[in-house]
Formats: sequence, structure tokens, C-alpha cells
Amino acid sequence: MKVKVDDLEFEKMIPFETIEERIITLGAALTEQYKDSLPVFVGVLNGSFMFMADLVKQVPIPCHIAFMKLSSYHGGLASTRTITEDFDLKVEITDRDVILVEDIVDTGNTLRYLVDKLTALKPRSVKVCALLYKPDAMEHQIPELEYVGFEIENKFVVGYGLDYKELGRNLKDIYQLVK
Ligand code: IMP
Ligand code: MG
Repeated sequence: MKVKVDDLEFEKMIPFETIEERIITLGAALTEQYKDSLPVFVGVLNGSFMFMADLVKQVPIPCHIAFMKLSSYHGGLASTRTITEDFDLKVEITDRDVILVEDIVDTGNTLRYLVDKLTALKPRSVKVCALLYKPDAMEHQIPELEYVGFEIENKFVVGYGLDYKELGRNLKDIYQLVK
């Protein structure tokens, strides 16, 4: 099935049912790891809103949930490398176990920046849970990236929170660009 998002055409890549199944597995691993530590899930907006909502439903333990905003793509297809300095974390994370929840790791620039920023606040631990990961695009070593939903090819994707020009975030499934 194909969809048009603004001027581009996308085809279905990961159906919601597959995403849901994978999140159950990720949730079980997180539940086991963090059941006694009152962790704080920190979602990176806007892309992670759907993933966060479905993920925490699979982690039925005491936890805090917070969001922060940051962006590097500015709407287009390629990573711009300039991160909008908008690091606004409203929750205390010192001595806490933090799980950073990201929609997608592409070059890793955003994640490297975020992990460094969070680490400076002296949490007990920082791990990253990303729904999608493009290993071929990755330019950094990020050992904190411990939980990954799907490793995908280096192709532009939309849906399930991810956008093209701020459109397509509401698509239930994940779609890839038709070349
Ligand atoms: P990075 O800094 O290059 O890793 O890019 C990270 C951010 O760029 C992600 O959090 C997304 O918001 C955005 N991004 C990267 N790849 C895609 C994609 O394929 N579709 C939509 N957004 C993307
Ligand atoms: Mg993002």
C-alpha cells in the first residue's frame, strides 16, 4: 500500500502489528531491568510520542515519564547536523536510571548530543531505547544504545511518529520512501 506525504510517495515497510509485537519484547526486557529502580523515561519530541505511549504500556512498573524537545532535521530528508539548542528537561534525573526514548537513530548526532547532556546531570545510568536504527548512517560510537526495535536500511521513513515536513506522524504503520 502506498501513501503520498506532501510531494513524496511512500510504501508500507513495517506494519503496526509488527511494531506492536516488537514493543512487547522490548517492554519485557525493560520491565526486568528496571523493576526495582523507579526509572525515568525521557522521550524526545515530537518523533517519539507514539512509540513512548505504546512502550510504557508494556512496562507495568513504577516509573516517571518526561519529554523534551530537540530537533536536527528541520523537516527535510537529510540530517542537517545542526541541533536546535532547545534542551528543556523538566524532571530531576540526578542519581536516577534514565531511559532515553527516541524514534530513530540516523547519523547518531542527536543521540550523542543528548546522551552527553543527560550524563552531565549525573544520573545513575543512561540507556537509549530507539524504535529504529540505521546502522549504515551511524557516525558515532554510542554504547548507551542498548534497546533497538528494528535495524533498517539507510532509507527515509515516515509514520508512527516520524515525519516528512511535519506530515505523516499520524500514520499508524511505518513507510519508506519510494525511489
Ligand atoms: P540523527 O541526529 O542524524 O541521528 O537524526 C536523528 C533525528 O532525525 C531523529 O530523531 C528524527 O527526528 C530525524 N530522522 C532521522 N532519520 C529520519 C527518517 O528516516 N525519517 C524521519 N525523520 C528522521
Ligand atoms: Mg527525533
